Amino acid sequence: MSPDAVRLHRVRLAGIAGLAGMASSALALWLAGGAVAWSLLPGVAGCLVSWIMTGEGVGVAAETERPPAAEAPAAPAVEAAFSASLVAGVINDFALPLIVTSDNATVLAASALARNMFPGLQRSRPVSLAIRDPDFLDAVTEAAGQTASQTIVLGGLPPLNRALRVHINRVTVAGSAEAATICVFEDLTEQQATERMRVDFIANASHELRTPLASLLGFVETLQGPARDDAKARERFLPIMREQAGRMARLIDDLLSLSRAELRAHQQPTAPIDIGAIIREIMDSLGLSARERGVALEMQLPDEPMMIRGDRDDLLRLVENLVENGIRYGREGKVVTISLGRGAGGEVILSVRDHGPGIAAEHIPRLTERFYRADVSHSREIGGTGLGLAIVKHLVMRHRARLEIESRLGEGADFKVLFPPYGG
Ligand SMILES: Nc1ncnc2c1ncn2[C@@H]1O[C@H](COP(=O)(O)OP(=O)(O)O)[C@@H](O)[C@H]1O
Ligand SMILES: [Mg+2]
Repeated sequence: MSPDAVRLHRVRLAGIAGLAGMASSALALWLAGGAVAWSLLPGVAGCLVSWIMTGEGVGVAAETERPPAAEAPAAPAVEAAFSASLVAGVINDFALPLIVTSDNATVLAASALARNMFPGLQRSRPVSLAIRDPDFLDAVTEAAGQTASQTIVLGGLPPLNRALRVHINRVTVAGSAEAATICVFEDLTEQQATERMRVDFIANASHELRTPLASLLGFVETLQGPARDDAKARERFLPIMREQAGRMARLIDDLLSLSRAELRAHQQPTAPIDIGAIIREIMDSLGLSARERGVALEMQLPDEPMMIRGDRDDLLRLVENLVENGIRYGREGKVVTISLGRGAGGEVILSVRDHGPGIAAEHIPRLTERFYRADVSHSREIGGTGLGLAIVKHLVMRHRARLEIESRLGEGADFKVLFPPYGG
């Protein structure tokens, strides 16, 4: 039995189904298949490199433990099927950026994703021309002459400050001095950004809760201490305490709504809903607060029902958040218009238009971020939490809809949600 067959048999024993006779795409998928594949990478990559360098199925380095010969039937068909060009194709299509280098750090092969990530990569040229990071170059140089695999993390790579984890494995060829190093890259940039967002979110939420809580505790202490018998102070403080407690309750309600919306953002709701009926319901519930702020609510709805596929509670929340913003940020004495129409592609377009101060262009792309406000103190003053549009964004995603914000300073704002056609 050839060493390749031993290797392949070991791979199969490790629980990865049917390598024999596999098409290259299946192999590429399998190679990228997560933790198990990582642990097997040196072995499989060893086979690949042997083929790449010699053009035929030569053996890989001897293994310390091998299964008994009886368990490992020879698989000549497998070897025959793995031509050099097929292996080159496997490397090219590998589902992660992958580079094979020689012991003097020259590029032998690279996957398409690696060439994309490092445009300077060229076969038969030093890898240092494409990747200048000294830690990476040291690791690749050190790998020559070693058998142990290593993993390094690189940060601050151009462009855009990328962070990468690099798995470096050395492979040798049995009965030959040939050897190579395989580097597989994992992009950690997004993972690190998500982690940062999570940490920021917890810090922001704690800060938003701590402010009203501190004020509430301060009043309680005053009423228990120096102002114990001061009826006037009690009368003055209690409404403020109620307002602060209300702010905390609103924040907790919004946090819960946001987490529910985020959890379900990928489950598309399917119930038939007349979005016109939702708007009428919100008009009734927000009518009073609009009148208190001197804002007139105006509806422009077609006579017939405007059906979409959706979730009733979500849609009530979505319309409520947009109309509430129109009332809060729209100028006193002005109109907020809520209209429904149909787009050229049959989509249902909800628009909430106000005539308030509008929003400066630099804020618009960030409005749906959690806790982002164009004017923090103004938002707080009028009872905002900074979470309304983040909730709207997730509800819009859940409905496979699109949110468009049009605004210019001094010219009000138009928040549009475009829902896909009912049958679409
Ligand atoms: N109609 C609008 N006109 C002007 N600014 C708006 C409007 N709607 C939202 N904004 C801005 O977007 C920010 C985020 O809105 P939102 O997420 O609903 O939070 P909140 O209303 O609680 O502050 C608001 O603080 C405000 O600066
Ligand atoms: Mg809001």
